[in-house]
Amino acid sequence: NLGENNSLMNKFIAEIRDVAIQKDAMRFRRNIERIGEVLGYEMSKSFRYESSQVHTPLGSKEMDLPTDKVVLCSILRAGLPLHQGLLNYFDGAENAFISAYRHHRGDEDAFEVVVNYFAAPSLEAKILVLTDPMLATGKTLENVLKVLKNQGTPAQIHIVSVIGAQEGVAHVQKVFPENTHLWISAIDPELNARGYIIPGIGDAGDLAYG
Ligand code: PRP
Repeated sequence: NLGENNSLMNKFIAEIRDVAIQKDAMRFRRNIERIGEVLGYEMSKSFRYESSQVHTPLGSKEMDLPTDKVVLCSILRAGLPLHQGLLNYFDGAENAFISAYRHHRGDEDAFEVVVNYFAAPSLEAKILVLTDPMLATGKTLENVLKVLKNQGTPAQIHIVSVIGAQEGVAHVQKVFPENTHLWISAIDPELNARGYIIPGIGDAGDLAYG
């Protein structure tokens, strides 16, 4: 949980929460992207590195360089700006996209998560990074994990998210395998009856894309 430190991250989170500032959709998207960049950098410290000789015009230098194969998998549509933030740093990553949305029957509070589009490379022995800015009940991530089962077994799973609810974090801990790591910038205490994070930020998909 990287948003509780004294860091610039607090300002990015404050701006995406603030009802007045979040009306600026371009700023909202860019703040989510910047959070993706920061979380991605922190996550990169847990990856594997191997020593390699780098040749400069005037000599050479031994440096530790990343060796893991990374697949960035985003959940449409709110995951897109976060995906771009990660891709800004993991420029050689493969990419996967999955659509998932909450389907409410009429006015009912209860909903099911529907997955109806997905494109993904093999995940076998790679690092799978799942990106979704909101982790409310955790049901979307659970369904996405099921859909990805046929793509092979990743060496590690990393979830990158912006705002989570305690309940969703606990659900993810329960249903994801042990080699899963969560990188999240803020965890809020509650979910309301419709499964929205309180205080949260509102609907990230609508705020980013209208
Ligand atoms: C939101 C959000 C997550 C999901 C989180 O998506 O972007 O994907 O809900 O909720 P959960 O943890 O309870 O599953 P939404 O269905 O609003 O779709 P959108 O991104 O297209 O707006």
